[in-house]
Amino acid sequence: MDHTLDISLTVNGEAVNERVEARKTLVDFLRDDLGLTGSHVGCEHGVCGACTVRVNGAIVRGCLMLAAQCDGAKVETIEGVSDSGAVADLQEAFEKRNALQCGFCTPAMLLTTQELLASGGALSRDAIREHISGNYCRCTGYHAIVDAIESVAQQRARNENR
Ligand code: FES
Ligand code: FES
Repeated sequence: MDHTLDISLTVNGEAVNERVEARKTLVDFLRDDLGLTGSHVGCEHGVCGACTVRVNGAIVRGCLMLAAQCDGAKVETIEGVSDSGAVADLQEAFEKRNALQCGFCTPAMLLTTQELLASGGALSRDAIREHISGNYCRCTGYHAIVDAIESVAQQRARNENR
């Protein structure tokens, strides 16, 4: 029996038409079929957050969603978000404050943080920690990540008030 199906979606603004295995996860589809390897695969069961991508504007675990479920959807990955410049200040702050070491968690951390920063205004460190609590980092101890996010939140709030 054929367990493949055709899907049509947009990925980072580009139309994609592919035949996929019914059981293929979204993150495997992005990485293996489209070569978008910025989304990582860690635990493969929804715990670590390394596979975070955006589907129809919402942050999702790419390992818990099937590619087939994204037929007709708008998918955004770190590649598209990074190319758009939307997180350029965040990327700069991560680099400046050593908020990444191996970098495995970083693409997902940036996408998750972008969602938090979209709400605007200054953020408490507790609120930042709470929001990124679904994204594991094995290297940094999180302090530098919170520092980087806090600094960008403050800078964006200052820019808004000008
Ligand atoms: S790989 Fe998806 S949550 Fe860990
Ligand atoms: S920088 Fe290595 S897992 Fe976060």
